[in-house]
Amino acid sequence: MALVLLLLLPIFLLSSSSCLVLAIPTLASQAATLLSLKDSFSPPLPPQLRSWTLANYASLCSSWPGVACSNRTVVSLDISGYNLSGTLPPAIADLAGLRFFSAAANSFSGDIPPAIAALRDLRHLNLSNNQFNGTLDALDFSAMHSLQVLDLYDNDLAGALPTLLPAAAGLRHLDLGGNFFSGTIPPSFGRFPAIQFLSLAGNSLSGDIPPDLANLSTLRHLFLGYFNRFDGGIPAELGRLTSLVHLDLANCGLQGPIPASLGDLTGLDTLYLQTNQLNGTIPPSLGNLTGLRFLDVSNNALTGEIPPELAALRELRLLNMFINRFRGGVPDFLGDLRSLQVLKLWQNNFTGAIPAALGRAAPLREVDLSTNRLTGEVPRWLCARGQLEILILLDNFLFGPVPEGLGACPTLTRGNYLTGRLEEDGSGGGGSSSSRLSLLNLSSNRFNGSLPASMGNFSWLQTLLLGGNQLGGQIPRQVGRLKRLLKLDLSGNKLTGAVPGEVGECTSLTYLDLSGNRLSGAIPVRLVQIKVLNYLNVSWNMLSGSIPRELGGMKSLTAADFSHNELSGRVPESGQFAYLNGSSFVGNPGLVVVNPKQQVMGGGPGILGGAGTQDERGSSSSSAVMGRLKLLLAAVGLLGFSVAFAAAAVATTRSAAMLRRRRRSSSWRWRMTAFQQVSFGCEDVVRCVKENCVVGRGGAGVVYRGTMPGGECVAVKRIVSAEGGGFQAEVETLGGIRHRHIVRLLAFCSGPEAKLLVYEYMVNGSLGEALHRAGADDGGGGVVLSWASRLRVATEAAKGLCYLHHDCSPPILHRDVKSNNILLDARMEAHVADFGLAKFLGGSGASECMSAVAGSYGYIAPEKEGTKNGDPRKQANQKDIK
Ligand SMILES: *[C@@H]1O[C@H](CO)[C@@H](O)[C@H](O)[C@H]1NC(C)=O
Ligand SMILES: *[C@@H]1O[C@H](CO)[C@@H](O)[C@H](O)[C@H]1NC(C)=O
Ligand SMILES: *[C@@H]1O[C@H](CO)[C@@H](O)[C@H](O)[C@H]1NC(C)=O
Ligand SMILES: *[C@@H]1O[C@H](CO)[C@@H](O)[C@H](O)[C@H]1NC(C)=O
Ligand SMILES: *[C@@H]1O[C@H](CO)[C@@H](O)[C@H](O)[C@H]1NC(C)=O
Ligand SMILES: *[C@@H]1O[C@H](CO)[C@@H](O)[C@H](O)[C@H]1NC(C)=O
Ligand SMILES: *[C@@H]1O[C@H](CO)[C@@H](O)[C@H](O)[C@H]1NC(C)=O
Ligand SMILES: *[C@@H]1O[C@H](CO)[C@@H](O)[C@H](O)[C@H]1NC(C)=O
Ligand SMILES: *[C@@H]1O[C@H](CO)[C@@H](O)[C@H](O)[C@H]1NC(C)=O
Ligand SMILES: *[C@@H]1O[C@H](CO)[C@@H](O)[C@H](O)[C@H]1NC(C)=O
Repeated sequence: MALVLLLLLPIFLLSSSSCLVLAIPTLASQAATLLSLKDSFSPPLPPQLRSWTLANYASLCSSWPGVACSNRTVVSLDISGYNLSGTLPPAIADLAGLRFFSAAANSFSGDIPPAIAALRDLRHLNLSNNQFNGTLDALDFSAMHSLQVLDLYDNDLAGALPTLLPAAAGLRHLDLGGNFFSGTIPPSFGRFPAIQFLSLAGNSLSGDIPPDLANLSTLRHLFLGYFNRFDGGIPAELGRLTSLVHLDLANCGLQGPIPASLGDLTGLDTLYLQTNQLNGTIPPSLGNLTGLRFLDVSNNALTGEIPPELAALRELRLLNMFINRFRGGVPDFLGDLRSLQVLKLWQNNFTGAIPAALGRAAPLREVDLSTNRLTGEVPRWLCARGQLEILILLDNFLFGPVPEGLGACPTLTRGNYLTGRLEEDGSGGGGSSSSRLSLLNLSSNRFNGSLPASMGNFSWLQTLLLGGNQLGGQIPRQVGRLKRLLKLDLSGNKLTGAVPGEVGECTSLTYLDLSGNRLSGAIPVRLVQIKVLNYLNVSWNMLSGSIPRELGGMKSLTAADFSHNELSGRVPESGQFAYLNGSSFVGNPGLVVVNPKQQVMGGGPGILGGAGTQDERGSSSSSAVMGRLKLLLAAVGLLGFSVAFAAAAVATTRSAAMLRRRRRSSSWRWRMTAFQQVSFGCEDVVRCVKENCVVGRGGAGVVYRGTMPGGECVAVKRIVSAEGGGFQAEVETLGGIRHRHIVRLLAFCSGPEAKLLVYEYMVNGSLGEALHRAGADDGGGGVVLSWASRLRVATEAAKGLCYLHHDCSPPILHRDVKSNNILLDARMEAHVADFGLAKFLGGSGASECMSAVAGSYGYIAPEKEGTKNGDPRKQANQKDIK
C-alpha cells in the first residue's frame, strides 16, 4: 500500500492543485481509494477485480467492473456477489460522491465502518447476505440525509436496534432481518416519515410490539416474525397502517386475539399470523380485506366458526387454518372462490359436509381437511381443474364412493380417502388398471369389506397403506403382482386366513406390516425371496407353526416382530435372529426361546409387561394399538444390535492426526456455517477431533465430544467419507429443523478434506446405551430406564419423527431409526439424531419444514414454492461465518 501511495503522490500533487477549488476528487485519488479497498479484501480475489489496477486508473469510470461514475466522480460501487471476504475498510468513505453502494452477497465480516455515515449522498446501502458481526451503535444515522435504502438482511449483527435510526429521514426501505439484534423495538421506530418496507424479522427481539409503529402511515410491507419473541399481542393500533399490503407476524410468540381493527387494512394482500398463540375468534371485519390473497392463521389456538363475512374474500389463493380449535361447518363460499389453490383446515373440529362445489371454480392444488369431524361425501369437483396434487381427507367420517373424477386425476400424488368398500374393479376405487398411482394411503379410515383381488392391477404402487381400517376377508394372492411395492401396511384390520406365500413375490418390499389382524396358519417361508425386507411385523395375529429358520438368512432384516401369536417350536438362533431380542417373541406360549439375548431384557416379562395379562386386558381393538406401540419400542430397542458399535479405530486415528496437522498449516481454511448464534469458531471445533474425545462411531462418521471456550458442550461428528453426499443431505435437512425432540445442529465446519457437524451435546448418550447398560448384569453404573421412561422416550422419539414426516415438505424419512440414533439429554428427554441417511420422500431439492411446531424460518408460503431455489433470501438464518 505504501508503495502505491508513493507512486500516486505526484499525481495527487498535480491534480490537487487544479481541482482543489471544486473539491472534486480526481480519478487518481478515487482509484487509490478503490485500490486500498481491494487491498483489504482477503485473497483469493475474484477475476472481476483484476482490472482494478493503478496503471488502469484513467479508465476507472469506463472499464472498472462494479464502478460507475457521473462527471468523473464514482457514484456507484456494486461489488455484490463478488465472492469477497475480509473486512470493509473505513476508506470507503473517501469515495465522497458515492450514491449507490452494494457489497451484498459476499462474506465480509467485522464491523460496518462507522465512517460510511459520512457519505452524504449515499442513497442505497446494501450489505445484505454477509457476516458483518458488530453492532450499529457507532453509526451516526442522523448524518445520512440521503439514505433511502438500508439493507442489512442476513448478517450477524447484534446488540440493540439503534434508537436514532429514524434520523435517516429519507429511509424508504429498511431491512434488518436475519440478524441477532436483541432487546425491544424502540418506540422511535414509529417515526420514519417515508418508510415503505420495514423488516425486523428473524432476530432475537423481545418486549411488546410498540403501538407507535402504527404511525408509519406510508408503510406497505411489515415483517416482524420468526425467532423474535414478543410479549403480549398484536397491537390493535396496527389497524391504522392503511397503506399496508403485506403483514407478516408469524411465529413470534404473539398471544391474545386477532384485533378486529386489522379489518381496516383494506389494501392487504397477505396476512400471515401463523404459529403464534393467538386465541379468540376470527374477527368478522377481516371480511373487509377484499383484496386478500394469502391468509394464514394456522397453528394458533383460535376458536369459533369461520365467519360468513369472509365470503367477501374473493381473491383468496391460500387459506390455512390448520391446527386450531375452529368448529362449525366448512363454509360453502369456499366452493365459489375462483383462485383458491391451497386449502388446509386440518386438525380442527369442523363438522358437516365439505362444500359440494369445492374445486369446480378453482384450480385447487393442495387440500387437507384431515382430522376433523366432517361427514358426507367427497365432493366430485376437487380435481375438476386438473391441478390437484395433494388431497388428504383422512380421519373424518366421510362415506360413499370415491368420486369418478378423482381416480382419473393426473396430478394427484397423495390420495387419502374415506370409508366404504374398496371396489372390486378399481375403476371406482381410485384408478383404472393402468393407473400409475404410486402411493395409496387409506389408513385410519373405516373401510370394511374385503381387499379386492384387482388390487394386483395397481402395478405402479410403491406404498400401500391400509392400516387401521375394518377390512375383513383374506389377503388376495394377487398381492404378489405388486412388484414395485416398497411398503405394505395392512395392520389393525380384521383380515383372516393365511398369509399368502405370494407376498414373497413382492420382491421390492422393505416394510411389511400385517400386525393386529386375525391371520392364521404358518408364516410363509417364501418371504425369504424378498431380499430387501428390513421390517417385518406379524405380531398380534393367530399365526401358528414354527418360525421358519430360513428367515434368519435375510441379511436385510433388522426388525422383526413375531409376538402375540400361537407360534411354537424353538426360536431359531442363526443369522439375523441373533440380533432380535425377547420382545419379538413374547406372547407365544408354545415358543421356546433358547438364546439368552432373545430372552426378555432385564428379566422382566416383556417390554410392556406380562404378555398374558396384556392379552386379557386388551380388547381386540386395542390390540392393534398395542401392536404398534410395542413395535415402536421393538424397532427402537432391537435395531441397536445391528449396529457395529465397536469399529476399528486405526484408520480414524490417523486421519484425526492429519486433521490437526492441517489445522496448523496456515493455508488451511475452515468455513463455518452456523444455524444459530454460536460463540465458537472452527478452530475450537477442530480441537475436539482427537482420539480421546471419541464418544461414538457410526456408519456415517465418528462422534467426538468437546467443550467450547464459552463452556458449552457440543458433539462433533466427523464425516468419514469426504464425498459429502450424506453430509450435504444431513446439513440441509437438519440445519433448518427446530424441534424439541430432534437433535439440534448448531453449525458445521467444512474444508476440502473434512467436514464436521456440530450438535448440541446430549449428556445421557443414546437410548441404545441406556437400554443395554440397563440390561447388563449390574448396569455398569449408568442410567437405568424405568418402563415409564421407556414409554416416554418412545413417544418423544415418535414425536420427532412425526414432525419430520408430517411437517416437513416434502416429508423427511429418517431411514435409520434405531436406538443408537435416539439421544437423551440431561432430563432424559429423547432427541432423534443422525439424518445421514435421510432422503426426501418426494421430488428433489431441499426440504422445507413447517415452522409451525418448531419455530424455524422454514415455513414457506406455497405461492413461493415455485421459486424455492431461486430466492436466496429464504435461506433465512443460515449464517456463514468464515
Ligand atoms: C458536471 O460538472 C460540470 C462542471 O464541472 C457541472 O457544470 C455539471 O453541472 C456537472 N454535472 C452533473 C450532472 O453533476
Ligand atoms: C466463489 O468462490 C468459490 C470457491 O472459492 C467458487 O467455487 C465459486 O465459483 C465462486 N463464485 C463466483 C460467483 O465467482
Ligand atoms: C440487496 O442485494 C441483494 C443481493 O444482491 C438483493 O437480492 C436485494 O434485493 C438487494 N436489496 C435491495 C433493497 O435492493
Ligand atoms: C467478528 O468476526 C471476526 C472474524 O470472524 C472475529 O474475529 C471477531 O471477533 C468477531 N467479532 C464479534 C464482535 O463477534
Ligand atoms: C405516534 O402517534 C401517537 C398519537 O398520534 C403519539 O402519541 C405517539 O407519540 C407517536 N409515536 C411516535 C414514536 O412518534
Ligand atoms: C387468550 O389468551 C390470553 C393469554 O394467553 C388469556 O388471558 C385470555 O383469557 C385468552 N382468551 C380466550 C378467549 O381464551
Ligand atoms: C368492516 O366490517 C365490519 C364488520 O363486518 C362492518 O361492520 C364494517 O362496516 C366494515 N367496514 C367497511 C369499511 O367495509
Ligand atoms: C373438538 O371438540 C371436542 C369436544 O367438543 C374436544 O374434546 C376436542 O378437544 C376438540 N378438538 C380440537 C382440536 O379442538
Ligand atoms: C397415511 O395416513 C395416515 C393416517 O393417519 C398417516 O398417519 C400417515 O402418515 C400417512 N402416511 C403417508 C406416507 O402419507
Ligand atoms: C360396512 O359398513 C356399512 C356402514 O357402516 C354397513 O352397512 C355394512 O354392512 C358393512 N359391511 C360389512 C361387510 O361389514
